[in-house]
Amino acid sequence: MLVITDPQKMRKYCASISRKGLSIGFVPTMGALHEGHLELVKAAKKRSDVVIVSIFVNPIQFGPKEDFKKYPRDIKKDAALLKKEKVDVLFNPSVEDMIPKDLLSYVEVGKMGDVLCGTSRPGHFRGVATIVAKFFNIIRPDTAFFGAKDFQQQAIIRKMVKDLDMGVEIVTVATVREKSGLAKSSRNAYLSAEQRAQAPALYASLLLAKRMIAAGEKSASKIIVAIKKNILSRTDFVVDYVSIVDSETFEEKKTIKRPVLIAVAAYLGKTRLIDNILV
Ligand code: PAF
Repeated sequence: MLVITDPQKMRKYCASISRKGLSIGFVPTMGALHEGHLELVKAAKKRSDVVIVSIFVNPIQFGPKEDFKKYPRDIKKDAALLKKEKVDVLFNPSVEDMIPKDLLSYVEVGKMGDVLCGTSRPGHFRGVATIVAKFFNIIRPDTAFFGAKDFQQQAIIRKMVKDLDMGVEIVTVATVREKSGLAKSSRNAYLSAEQRAQAPALYASLLLAKRMIAAGEKSASKIIVAIKKNILSRTDFVVDYVSIVDSETFEEKKTIKRPVLIAVAAYLGKTRLIDNILV
């Protein structure tokens, strides 16, 4: 596995790959890799000649009070995992090389970035879209792979690619879960044993909502109340939001008309966990 840190070298390498007529599959990550990321890599391997994975903890998608500094970083372990998956290139640039001190140009993502997770993380999706656009400009991938756990993120990236004619195919890969149902996330590493035991309540509450809808419940507000009640019973969760929205526009739904996205975010201590299902 080639490890490249210099964006200019990365650009040259990718241009040479494309000149040979080979396709590039790109998996952007912030490291602290888990099985969810490895599923993205596997999907990329299936569809691309050359697979590039980036590891970059992107400062411009963290709020001033968020966990940028303490975000888990273990590049050696991550590199070993990627090597085992036969990834072709690990791109691991520095903050200085990726984010100029005088950065002025951002990708604005409008109202899609202001709802759901954007409400409590203002500017987060602008930071995500900007860094992903930079990666796309350096790598020029044919295909890029994102996890469904970050549903809002993949939808915003899809819209950005369409709006700005970036010509990258976006593939969304299903959420990987633990046996308990808990969605795999790098932030699960923050949880204590007790919190880990409580965390599956998030997904369980989404399954409850799915059952309610299957049984004919049409009122979004009734379902939201049931989800909140379910998350809070016998756990220390503090709910950030529970929303039922159109899966493309993220407009709130009052009445369930399929398909809808049910998305939740909640805190266990300082750790913010998210999950969602499409119904
Ligand atoms: O999902 C993530 O890990 C990040 O938001 C991403 C897409 C790598 C951009 O920094």
